[in-house]
Amino acid sequence: MNDLLLRTLRGQDTERRPLWIMRQAGRYLPEYRALRERFSFEELCARPDLAAEVTLMPINRFPLDAAIVFADIMSPISALGINVEFAPGPVINKPLRSKAAVQALSIPTQDEIAPTVLETVRLVKKELSGRVPVLGFTGGPWTLAAYLVQGRGVRDFPALRALAIDKPRVLTELLERLTALSSSYLKGQVESGVDAVQIFETWSGVLSVSDWSLLVKPHLENLLENVGQLGVPCILFMQNATHLLAEMTTLSADGFSVDWRVDMAELRQSLGPQKILQGNLDPAILLAGPESTSRAARRLLQDIPPVGHIVNLGHGILPQTPMESVEALIGVVHSEVQECSRTSASAGEEV
Ligand code: CP3
Repeated sequence: MNDLLLRTLRGQDTERRPLWIMRQAGRYLPEYRALRERFSFEELCARPDLAAEVTLMPINRFPLDAAIVFADIMSPISALGINVEFAPGPVINKPLRSKAAVQALSIPTQDEIAPTVLETVRLVKKELSGRVPVLGFTGGPWTLAAYLVQGRGVRDFPALRALAIDKPRVLTELLERLTALSSSYLKGQVESGVDAVQIFETWSGVLSVSDWSLLVKPHLENLLENVGQLGVPCILFMQNATHLLAEMTTLSADGFSVDWRVDMAELRQSLGPQKILQGNLDPAILLAGPESTSRAARRLLQDIPPVGHIVNLGHGILPQTPMESVEALIGVVHSEVQECSRTSASAGEEV
């Protein structure tokens, strides 16, 4: 198997940096858009055969180093007895804002949580037959709560922040339930065959350092502790959270995925060589075309040494991204190894 990603997450040397792309199984792919003409997003998620097909689309087109299972962060939420619609982001018709609403949530068993996603994982594992590792994922408790409390993705999630201030105990109970949900869901994914997992805590950045440390960090710590027992490495992603980096990187994740606002050289410098970092090209750079993408990718590779670095974007790839930009990014990452081996080959000739 191409185990560049897994070896990097274990802190081992690799012949080159691994590369995968957040939201790689999505709307920038013409073959995905073609399938979406025939099926809604919900239909794709509900059919493991189709979800597996979408998971493999980017792997069949590009030499990426991991497949991420096609699902949504809200996929496990229906197991709480909550109906989620997509327009195009997640929409909850009756947002949760009271103690009674939180206590009315179902407490599902592991088997009841997103069984179609687990079936998708099993199909993907079989079809890949070891070509690349499969990444599972879940939403972080705060990011899942963001949609449940706010009702939909809204800039800075004011209703969520209001609940955090006004009814911190209600929020805490919700975060505890979501942590339990994500823990069981990831356990199911690992039992179905995923090789590593990522926690998308996308909206953590809307809180101050002190509120995040008090209200959210303990739940993430619990989730990471539970994942730690599963025997697969875990990457933690946070977005627009530069102010939380010092706190974030004390958590027990194996890898830390940061967005494009973060200076990677500075972060590597301040954390030392041991921590595994993932990121962080600005997804918008890919819209500017292959030359701009290559330049930015080369700069990124110069900014931090290869060991302990997983190349990725700083957030999900944008729907308008040209295929040529993805190819350019891959070309830069792959050419690094050729340069390394040329250097060692010519060094060998001199001996
Ligand atoms: O890499 C992959 O594409 C794997 C599948 C994946 C989806 N959503 C499929 C999807 C993953 C990893 C996600 C995570 C996700 N979903 C996050 C965390 C990462 C991030 O981007 O911050 C969040 C916040 C969501 C919530 C969500 N779901 C939004 C905001 C949207 C709409 C707009 C968008 O970004 O695409 C969705 C719908 C969704 N999830 C689509 C896909 C492919 C689009 C559905 C479509 O119209 O075809």
